[in-house]
Amino acid sequence: MSGFVLAIDQGTTSSRAIVFDANMQAVGIGQQEFPQHYPASGWVEHDPEDIWSSVVATVKAALADAGLEARDITAIGITNQRETVVMWDRETGRAVHNAIVWQDRRTAPLCERLKRDGLEEVFTRKTGLLLDPYFSGTKLAWLLDNVEGVRERAEAGKLLAGTIDTFLIWRLTGGRAHVSDATNASRTLLFNIETNAWDDELLSILGVPRSLLAEVKDTADDFGVTDAGLFGAEIPILGVAGDQQAATVGQACFTPGMLKSTYGTGCFAVLNTGETLVRSKNRLLTTIAYRLDGRTTYALEGSIFIAGAAVQWLRDGLQIIGKASDSGVLAEKADPAQDIYLVPAFVGLGAPYWDTEARGAIFGLTRNTGPAEFARATLESVAFQTRDLLEAMRGDWPEGGEAKVLRVDGGMVASDWTMQCLADILNAPVDRPTVLETTALGAAWLAGARAGVWPDAEKFAASWALDRQFTPRMSEQERARKLKGWRNAVRRTLTSTL
Ligand code: G3P
Repeated sequence: MSGFVLAIDQGTTSSRAIVFDANMQAVGIGQQEFPQHYPASGWVEHDPEDIWSSVVATVKAALADAGLEARDITAIGITNQRETVVMWDRETGRAVHNAIVWQDRRTAPLCERLKRDGLEEVFTRKTGLLLDPYFSGTKLAWLLDNVEGVRERAEAGKLLAGTIDTFLIWRLTGGRAHVSDATNASRTLLFNIETNAWDDELLSILGVPRSLLAEVKDTADDFGVTDAGLFGAEIPILGVAGDQQAATVGQACFTPGMLKSTYGTGCFAVLNTGETLVRSKNRLLTTIAYRLDGRTTYALEGSIFIAGAAVQWLRDGLQIIGKASDSGVLAEKADPAQDIYLVPAFVGLGAPYWDTEARGAIFGLTRNTGPAEFARATLESVAFQTRDLLEAMRGDWPEGGEAKVLRVDGGMVASDWTMQCLADILNAPVDRPTVLETTALGAAWLAGARAGVWPDAEKFAASWALDRQFTPRMSEQERARKLKGWRNAVRRTLTSTL
């Protein structure tokens, strides 16, 4: 057994594949962006064929980059953008419609109607989620109700559906496995996280036939074997997790009270609550962190829709920076006397506000405000939003939520300025690991450990290494003043009072 493990990371804007060696070092990488489709305001779609072809291409590129063949790979771990759904024909494998992406807001009216009918309580009690268009269930209902012929074909058992992991495994195995894992299932609004099973009552409320849904397995399990014709040899798929859960694993947050936050397109903070299913009073999500050997570990999650995407807006929209990494350098030059607050509600606000209709706003502009102040307000907004999540977590789980340190990863954490700002606003240390590919590493570890070629959880956790710890430097008075300014800005941006 070589110990080489391949991680497939199918994200919102790009697909990546990374080969790790037996020492858990990345030795080959492939990456490809694919088109985003915005057919109407608030709608976001992906062509499933783009997702598929980008995954195949990046796997081949990663193998070539590592100088390896498929037969050298012991196992594959898959991690993916969560909540995004695809529905396809079980005979032809062809999708009936584009994938509806997690960011898509088209089911807001359906969510409102379900809320008016008093149904949020049953969804939250059983799934740990809220009635927001973010999750998969209402997206499947939309496909069934709006794409011609789909309901009839689904009811006749001719169609299959799933999150991106399920779609990829179906294709990778040549249509032999229709499976998912507990973390992905826990984001669908159809999966009961207490009983660990699809919930008939929720399926019936949303009118989703059970035959569409995949078999749900542990996060490390036998998911099937790739078709030999694809990469030149069969490779077993032994690990699957939604990307935020994979990052939690990759950050070795295995102990209750450990907390990670990933800064990609959005920001997702996940707090391990162990075997305790903590019910949020502060509009956070209760979700499955991972399920190993049939044992479920739960988490509290705070999901912010816009983090790195706000930096992209500085670069592509405002064009005040040439590349994302320039944002910290520019922010550093901002005039300390100006108090500018950006509330990046570009697609509404996620946790803990969940305001679908809110849109972005900026406060405090003067004649002196320029690009540097915009950059600082953008980066600070990410820190303020993280603080909102952590305060909500502490309120929800005072006994374990007093997380002392935050482990961070994702593209934005390369900026020292942003990480110092985060530590200052949180008034808590922020730990940046040496390995920033934590999402892919988490998926690879699930598969490698399952295959018996990588260390167990304890040894893997011990291998986690710190690159730099950022500790708070801001005065209490300054922090209090800034937080007051932020809260005021959010209050003025929300369309409804909480
Ligand atoms: O819940 C959405 C999340 O899984 C998307 O992550 O990294 O593809 O933006 P990412």
